[in-house]
Amino acid sequence: SSDPLVIFTPSGKRGHFPAGTPILTAARQLGVDLDSVCGGRGICSKCQITPSYGEFSKHGVTVQDDALSEWNAVEQRYQDKRGLIAGRRLGCQATVQGDIVIDVPPESQVHKQVVRKRAEARDIVLNPSTKLYYVEVAEPDMHDPSGDLERLRMALKDQWEIDNVTVDLHILQKMQPILRKGGWKVTVALHSGDDENPNRIMQIWPGYYEGTVYGLAVDLGSTTIAAHLCDLATGEVVASSGVMNPQIRFGEDLMSRVSYSMMNDSGADEMTTTVREGMNGLFSQVASEAEIDKQLIVDVVFVCNPVMHHLFLGIDPFELGQAPFALATSDEVRLRASDLGLNIHPSAHVYLLPCIAGHVGADAAAVALSEAPDKSDDLVLIVDVGTNAEILLGNKEKVLACSSPTGPAFEGAQISSGQRAAPGAIERVEIDPVTKAPRFKVIGSDLWSDDPDFEAAIATTGVTGICGSGIIEMVAEMRIHGIVDAPGLIGTAAQTGSQHVFADGRTNSYLVYDGTAQGGPKITVTNRDIREIQMAKAALYSGARLLMDKFGVDKVDRVVLAGAFGAHISTKHAMVLGMIPDCPLDKVTSAGNAAGTGARIALLNTQARVEIEQTVRDIHKIETAIEPRFQEHFVNASAIPNAVEPFPILNS
Ligand code: FES
Repeated sequence: SSDPLVIFTPSGKRGHFPAGTPILTAARQLGVDLDSVCGGRGICSKCQITPSYGEFSKHGVTVQDDALSEWNAVEQRYQDKRGLIAGRRLGCQATVQGDIVIDVPPESQVHKQVVRKRAEARDIVLNPSTKLYYVEVAEPDMHDPSGDLERLRMALKDQWEIDNVTVDLHILQKMQPILRKGGWKVTVALHSGDDENPNRIMQIWPGYYEGTVYGLAVDLGSTTIAAHLCDLATGEVVASSGVMNPQIRFGEDLMSRVSYSMMNDSGADEMTTTVREGMNGLFSQVASEAEIDKQLIVDVVFVCNPVMHHLFLGIDPFELGQAPFALATSDEVRLRASDLGLNIHPSAHVYLLPCIAGHVGADAAAVALSEAPDKSDDLVLIVDVGTNAEILLGNKEKVLACSSPTGPAFEGAQISSGQRAAPGAIERVEIDPVTKAPRFKVIGSDLWSDDPDFEAAIATTGVTGICGSGIIEMVAEMRIHGIVDAPGLIGTAAQTGSQHVFADGRTNSYLVYDGTAQGGPKITVTNRDIREIQMAKAALYSGARLLMDKFGVDKVDRVVLAGAFGAHISTKHAMVLGMIPDCPLDKVTSAGNAAGTGARIALLNTQARVEIEQTVRDIHKIETAIEPRFQEHFVNASAIPNAVEPFPILNS
């Protein structure tokens, strides 16, 4: 063709276009991802491009002239009002003059990659549910009577090729004055993440709307609720906030909340009301932190365990408390904010990820979305530890899932000196190989307890107890230094050679720290504490081992620890205890809050929702309670690290 050649980077898409073709038009025809809200009217500046001079040799293109570097009148006006970076042009104003290479910078791409904090299992590519469109609507005409909405629909079809536009009553109620105020020019926010209403008008503004719309990724945990407010045009997190789950007053852990609902007629309703109130408080908090109007929040994604899922939706969790643990629904749930009494945009789309099984919830689905075991070449074991461990094992071929009742010991509960992770809690432990005396660090201070300045450093908090990561290191160190034997018994002072061991009734205990002189507690590890940790870690290991049996393997390539707990525990000590299968230590990583990340992926990319729905359907669910091998593994795994399984890498 004799028409000029246009090449877009970074996509590499190319084609010939007659001179005078706007770059935006060329981009659209080639399917290049170039943003536009105003439809090429030179108003929105979302279509910015950089004609990339000087780099053409590698593309085999010779530049004819540099006319593309000069702004036209529309761009000059834009530059005067709002500024335009030198070298940038508006794609809707610049036209093809000759052969040219056009770079589309990330901020001009709708499907841009969202930056994540750590090297992650998968990238987040923005593909938001809601996007803004500027349109010019025909005025009403007595000779050709039609409704304002019908003419708005016509404008969307003509100017954006968008069909099947629907609108909720509360938007229709305010539409007419807005159309007139804007002089028949309006910006609409269209939500497209819903099959039944593929193009729903969420909001309408007179004229060109400069702002953006937002979404919330919410991790609804039984202890805390965390919300991340994201700009749906950039994918950025603009504010994050968390609150305690106010349902705690009905029971610390999930099963006590299920029993509360069984014992009290209106128990489930009370808990539903409470969690929704807590949620609304959190939403207000995060919106005021970002200084935005809550009406601009148009999309919310929730991840949660099955009990929280049911209580939040107002479904009695009764069936989840007893075999066969039937969920009301395991599919994804799509609702509107008003259905749940959420105090944001009333038609905001609400999406709950699907649940995998009765004990493996939408939070585990979110972990699967974030860590993508189904896309992994090597075999990965993912454990998310809470009062229930949710365990995934898989690779590209298949993914298996189960849950295992670890109980609350890993959170410091049911441990004599146990506590939640908070300032003053022991979180790191080392035992001296010769004296068998402990040294430790508490949350809130960087000093080890044998530092001369330690007491001064912890003067405000004191040493208050041992948190989950601390108790794991404690028991593992006790095992390494022979204070505890493989079956889990603490030896006597004489047997262990430790002055810190003392007889405590019919068993022995280990003194970690005596704060009584400062009015604090005496912190010890009792043989019962060791038992609690043995039970918890045996449950975790046997769940993982059962999945390995089902997969037909006796080792895994790597282990991912998800959740706040996973972020804090020492992988070496976890393996010494035999919590996780033997595996090179550098192949054990922490994923941080993978469920929260999964929620954010689902919020920012509607395609990811469709993908995880399919992945969850494909996951093989294993019910540990009915597997005879589980008991066998459990008994063996009660020993430290294990009665029968070798830990060759650990021992090498
Ligand atoms: Fe809006 Fe170019 S498309 S300024």
